[in-house]
Amino acid sequence: MQKSQRKILLTGDTPTGKLHLGHWVGSLENRVQLQKEYECYFLIANLHAFTTRAERSAEIRESVLDIVLDYLSAGIDPEQFGSRIVLQSEVPAISELTFLFSMLVNYNRVLRNPTLKDEIRDKDLGDNYPFGFLLYPVGQVADILAFRPDIVPVGEDQLPHLEMTKEIAQRFNYLYCKPENKPDLFSLFETKLGRVKRLVGLGAPNAQGQLLKMSKSLNNAILLSDSPDEIRSKIMGMYTDPKRIKASDPGQIENNPLWIFHDAFNTDLTWVANAKELYRAGKIGDVECKRKLIEAIVALTDPMRARRAKYQNQDDLLEVLKLGTQLANERVEITLEATKKLMHQHFFI
Ligand code: TRP
Repeated sequence: MQKSQRKILLTGDTPTGKLHLGHWVGSLENRVQLQKEYECYFLIANLHAFTTRAERSAEIRESVLDIVLDYLSAGIDPEQFGSRIVLQSEVPAISELTFLFSMLVNYNRVLRNPTLKDEIRDKDLGDNYPFGFLLYPVGQVADILAFRPDIVPVGEDQLPHLEMTKEIAQRFNYLYCKPENKPDLFSLFETKLGRVKRLVGLGAPNAQGQLLKMSKSLNNAILLSDSPDEIRSKIMGMYTDPKRIKASDPGQIENNPLWIFHDAFNTDLTWVANAKELYRAGKIGDVECKRKLIEAIVALTDPMRARRAKYQNQDDLLEVLKLGTQLANERVEITLEATKKLMHQHFFI
């Protein structure tokens, strides 16, 4: 077993669409920094995408490749930092561990998972979800524990899954390591949340007055792959303070996506502080503030577009994915073997 010098980072995304600015501030930005320090595994959870779109399998395949390209464009760099982009369905140990771990968690405990409840509500699933939908949090536990990571950077909505991961890890250690006086197989990992926990979208609030989370399916997202023209037209058409008809009306900063975005993306803090005062006083127009925001977001995404242009060949994307998956398999097979041994189910090894 080859010992890596670096600590291990594991995280992932479900391929249900292209990545957007919410992904960037929620986690991707952290990953791009952390890859300099950690041995990173970025898992594309294509099996999980089947929980809600089993009938759209070709689309899932396309999304997988979109995400590989989004990762590379965002600055995840397998060549420079050895980062690994991994395809979940080609890592069989994860599925095996899912089955084994599903025995270590109470069914009602899974049903109480708040992220599942939120998904059922937000996606309007009612009672109409497959058995695999309830299984996927356990699958995510296997995604994580298979890699025995030191750090898991995620968005805030993933915290319940990480909580369950820790519970299952503890139960495994208690049942199978402790009685044998063996060291814990699964040790605690650090969780790292993004700079902005929940980025709002471009649209108006819902009936309860809440701004919705940025999401491709809600059509309120700026994608990492958008062109400067697309960014421009989305921002020009975005929701701001509806009570402000002309520039001389006093504007509201709070709960206004225009300013939430400036805070998240504009690096010119002096301009932002100044412009907020002028906006409140009715001394600066929406259009001027939007133009500044466009500049900031185009500048942020410019290097992404430049990197994207280098990867237009699908074979190159597949090559990156294949290599990352191969390296992932090397690591998780070791976990699987150790797991089976500790569970006394090592018959032929
Ligand atoms: N459930 C995560 C999401 O939808 C994706 C995911 C799958 C993941 N497996 C993971 C995230 C393991 C972190 C670790 O965003």
